Amino acid sequence: MAMAGTRVLRVDPLNPDVRAIEEATEVLRAGGLVAFPTETVYGLGADAFNVRAVLRVFEVKERPPDNPLIVHVSGIHMLEEVSADVPEEVLRVLEVAWPGPLTVVLRRSSRLPSVVSGGLDTVAVRAPAHPVALKLIESFGRPVAAPSANLSGRPSPTTAKHVLEDLGGRVDLVLDAGETFFGVESTVVDVLRDPPRVLRPGPIGPEELERLFGKPVEVPDYARGLELYTGAPPSPGLKYRHYAPEKSLLLVERGSCSDRDYLEYLKGVATRLATLGVALIASSETAGELGTIPGVEVIVLGSRANLYEVAKNLYTALRGLDRLTEASVGLAEAFEERGIGLAVMNRLRKASSRRLVCSSAPPSTLI
Ligand code: TXA
Ligand code: MG
Repeated sequence: MAMAGTRVLRVDPLNPDVRAIEEATEVLRAGGLVAFPTETVYGLGADAFNVRAVLRVFEVKERPPDNPLIVHVSGIHMLEEVSADVPEEVLRVLEVAWPGPLTVVLRRSSRLPSVVSGGLDTVAVRAPAHPVALKLIESFGRPVAAPSANLSGRPSPTTAKHVLEDLGGRVDLVLDAGETFFGVESTVVDVLRDPPRVLRPGPIGPEELERLFGKPVEVPDYARGLELYTGAPPSPGLKYRHYAPEKSLLLVERGSCSDRDYLEYLKGVATRLATLGVALIASSETAGELGTIPGVEVIVLGSRANLYEVAKNLYTALRGLDRLTEASVGLAEAFEERGIGLAVMNRLRKASSRRLVCSSAPPSTLI
């Protein structure tokens, strides 16, 4: 149901006003929807045990009903409300990793409504490391179901402005605490499998996961964004195209090109697209090396030596592409797939309408 108005409350991200938290708690108690910041992206929160509120989340996001939501808890002490029999070794990992951007897929408690999980008998859970999110969940005293607060298929919101662009008028309250910290969604891991399997890469990269779990973890091709999953996917979200801007976006993969050859190739593609007006989404290094090319607007993500910075600016860049009137098409640089860089590449691959691979010969057709 569209709501008449969306209230926006500005809160200090580190020390949110108690009254704002109380007001948000009241909205959740009444079965309403609250968009709130987490350390990754803004979430669209509802009482996880209120079926009607959860159904409204799917409705306002226009999310397919089989794509399950993440349940947010304020710590391990709240875990038993959503999942019974959590394996000992998983608990040991969560003691270290929570609160933080790690979501684990566990067996769903029969008391938790199955709509939250899109009908699955598993549930994805995390404890967010953001003072506003934690205080809200603690104040509410119960688990909060919260997908990213964007329209289905759009880039996730990293600011309250993004939330309002997509869901203004459709949610009851937005807690605006400025920009989120990581800028990409949490790492989702299926911990019911051995080895644990990454379903969606995020701020906690595979190297760190292996240290946390003390063993190798599996990173399938679909988690790298190299294929769309068909059939019955291990994570329903994998079936859908995601994070996509409205304009076409070409991603130029590095292939086996050297840095110099890659830059030349990227420059060649940008120059050929210049007559259409192209926005190049790139690192500050690449932007500097390419210099000014007429017809090419550059959206700088940050230094490619700091992949956290690149991740943080990614969704604002993808949203910005659609607003740039000078550009009718986007072109994106590829980044190193280590740490949070794997999440950056997964999102870029899912957002792109076409992938080119750098080679010695220029591509024949571009769009
Ligand atoms: O960082 C985040 O995780 C943000 C913030 C708000 O916490 N939330 C978020 O939620 O990204 P959402 O709903 O946009 O993404 C949830 C992802 C989807 O890809 C979904 O398919 C997967 O987690 N997922 C949820 N429950 C699952 C389950 N039971 N089994 C496998 N995958 C699941
Ligand atoms: Mg989402």
